[in-house]
Amino acid sequence: MTRPVLLYACPTVPAEPWIVEFRRAMPEVEIRVWPDIGEPAEITHAFVWHPPRGLFARLPALRMVFSLGAGVERLLDHAELPPEIPLIRMVDPSLGRDMTIFVVMQALRYHRRMPEIERNQRARIWSEVDAPMASDRRIGILGYGELGRLCADSLKGFGFDLSVWSRSPRDAPGLRAFAGVAELPAFLARSEILVCLLPLTPETAGILNAETFAQLPQGACLINVGRGGHLVEADFLAALASGRIAEATLDVFAEEPLPADHPFWSHERITVTPHIAALTQPRTAVSMIAVNIGRDAAGLPPLYQVDRSRGY
Ligand code: NAP
Ligand code: GLV
Repeated sequence: MTRPVLLYACPTVPAEPWIVEFRRAMPEVEIRVWPDIGEPAEITHAFVWHPPRGLFARLPALRMVFSLGAGVERLLDHAELPPEIPLIRMVDPSLGRDMTIFVVMQALRYHRRMPEIERNQRARIWSEVDAPMASDRRIGILGYGELGRLCADSLKGFGFDLSVWSRSPRDAPGLRAFAGVAELPAFLARSEILVCLLPLTPETAGILNAETFAQLPQGACLINVGRGGHLVEADFLAALASGRIAEATLDVFAEEPLPADHPFWSHERITVTPHIAALTQPRTAVSMIAVNIGRDAAGLPPLYQVDRSRGY
């Protein structure tokens, strides 16, 4: 292979920190930044986030595409990305750590009923709001992949009664593992705090819906850090109104930024965060890209390739 040429095509993300880290981690690779792509036929690899439509059709020598994010649903929309070109999702240790911190922070907040204690403070009410022992608190995580696993490992450390749900059966020491549609009801029935860490695919779109909420314990809390497309907003607001869901943290939304007049902003029992649960960090993320470009040169299969038939 001639000298690899990596195109940075993330129009919404500042390029500078990435370029610094790319040059440090792989000085042998030439880096170009969209829209100054030079001779398109020289570009061998692309690092993308919300890339311009039509980009891939212009790159005849493309060998591999890296996603800046873990979720790749918007890239799978690009019909011109040839199916034989490996698409690599983001797996970054800092992203995993930040997601763990965020999910643990929110789960502990709901476990200890902090929103209620804060409401009491505003009303000057002295009330000893108690919480069950951690071993009696049932937390469920939808998705037991890179991020779900890290969150589960940390929550396990507090002694929670933890369960996870995935597509295929998984070995999950120290917790209860459920898999597939058939086992979803049993998983939901024991999820007092439900965390969504699924990828957005045709199978998972709208999975946080009325039927799902009806199977949760009364007064459950929801933490959605997957994608906005997982949540059926009208069903969710109805579940909050009925008390089936007591509190929720939403980090991801069908429309981002969340429109200023959206009811979620002002709902007393919803915490809105602006899709910041976990961000990819250039300093730690570049090594996976360098390793994969090296594997490509050595004729080895890439790590973390998206299975396009599954959608993640
Ligand atoms: P991953 O490693 O691909 O794991 C995905 C998990 O979901 C796997 O356990 C998979 O099951 C399970 N799954 C997929 N489809 C399913 C289905 N139909 N039924 C049951 N389980 C299913 O993904 P990840 O790296 O953990 O990331 C997960 C998602 O987090 C991303 O796709 C993205 O949407 C979101 N995310 C959000 C932020 C944020 O800041 N809010 C940041 C990063 C990522 P198997 O184990 O059986 O394959
Ligand atoms: C962020 O949402 C990601 O998918 O990494």
